Amino acid sequence: MKFFVDTANLDQIREAQDLGVLDGVTTNPSLMAKEGIKGKDAILKHYIDICNIVDGDVSAEVLSTEYADMIKEGEELAALHPQIVVKVPATKDGIKAVKYLSGKDIKTNCTLVFSAGQALLAAKAGATYVSPFIGRLDDTSTDGIALIAQIVEMFNYYDFETQVLAASIRHTMHIIQCVEAGADVATCPLHAIEGLLKHPLTDLGLAQFAKDTQKMS
Ligand code: G3P
Repeated sequence: MKFFVDTANLDQIREAQDLGVLDGVTTNPSLMAKEGIKGKDAILKHYIDICNIVDGDVSAEVLSTEYADMIKEGEELAALHPQIVVKVPATKDGIKAVKYLSGKDIKTNCTLVFSAGQALLAAKAGATYVSPFIGRLDDTSTDGIALIAQIVEMFNYYDFETQVLAASIRHTMHIIQCVEAGADVATCPLHAIEGLLKHPLTDLGLAQFAKDTQKMS
């Protein structure tokens, strides 16, 4: 399974990259705004900065909601850097934009996916990734992980090449559940990735080893 970090914070992206297990980055307008990035030039520069830190795919989301504007914006984003994946919402205009952009060999990530039907249309349009939002579904008392499993099964059954990118991951357990459900990618906050390393027995064992190391000197 691939690991993407879900942030536009350059320090966190560097930290995740330094860990040596990072496969890419996803951003969205909320994450970009959180970093105080304003204006077109600053936005485009920030995506290039991210691409210069990581080796893998970097999702950059279109801000337009209409098809014609989406494809113009998508082409502009894709031209920025070969690692850019154009992120497009799972709407009627968005699906048409995915079809157009994938026809131009531009990688796409169909986002804000909350149903198997949206994922199906995105895959048929040729999306590179679909991003079902687990945490936001959980927030509405709907099982987000069950949706991941359903989409994985559907894509396997019909041999779709579209990768299931589990998004809106809120905690470490979500990552493990994504593994069990067969997601291709999990995009996570850095703390959720780091949480995979946390175990009290590792801490206890390390403390004991430190004590015993002293006995040897
Ligand atoms: O990148 C999209 C997604 O991961 C957002 O997560 O926590 O805002 O639901 P969240």
